[in-house]
Amino acid sequence: MQHLIDWNPAYSIGMDEIDDQHRVLFDIINHLWEHVINRERGGGVLDTLDELERYTITHFTAEETFMRSHGYSGFDAHKQQHDHFINRVRNERITIEAGGPVSLDMVNFLKDWLINHILVQDKAYAREFESKKLGVLGSFFARLLRV
Ligand code: FEO
Repeated sequence: MQHLIDWNPAYSIGMDEIDDQHRVLFDIINHLWEHVINRERGGGVLDTLDELERYTITHFTAEETFMRSHGYSGFDAHKQQHDHFINRVRNERITIEAGGPVSLDMVNFLKDWLINHILVQDKAYAREFESKKLGVLGSFFARLLRV
């Protein structure tokens, strides 16, 4: 079956562990999409939404720990986006549990949100981390050259 999202090198933020976690999120969203395309309701959809919620929390916690430990300047805004996404996934699950519709719009929203977040917010913290690393190396070599 065709996928809703396929991994693309343009989505890489240059950190293998985080890229792998993003790939897992893509897989879960593809799985959710299959349920919707096959017009499945109930158990399968709810289990997949539950898996998405749990894995998203694992991934966001890993990123937030990394950003905090490196003093990322955009931490608060980034965390706010994470919280918003988790709330959205949770609310969708609650709505479907209560018998609400499972829509393609919802899956498309999750996909678009994730891609945009990776390309803009996740790449921003990776860039800041890289430039700090280069700054530290630069000062190290500058000190060496002065000696
Ligand atoms: Fe990879 Fe900020 O989520």
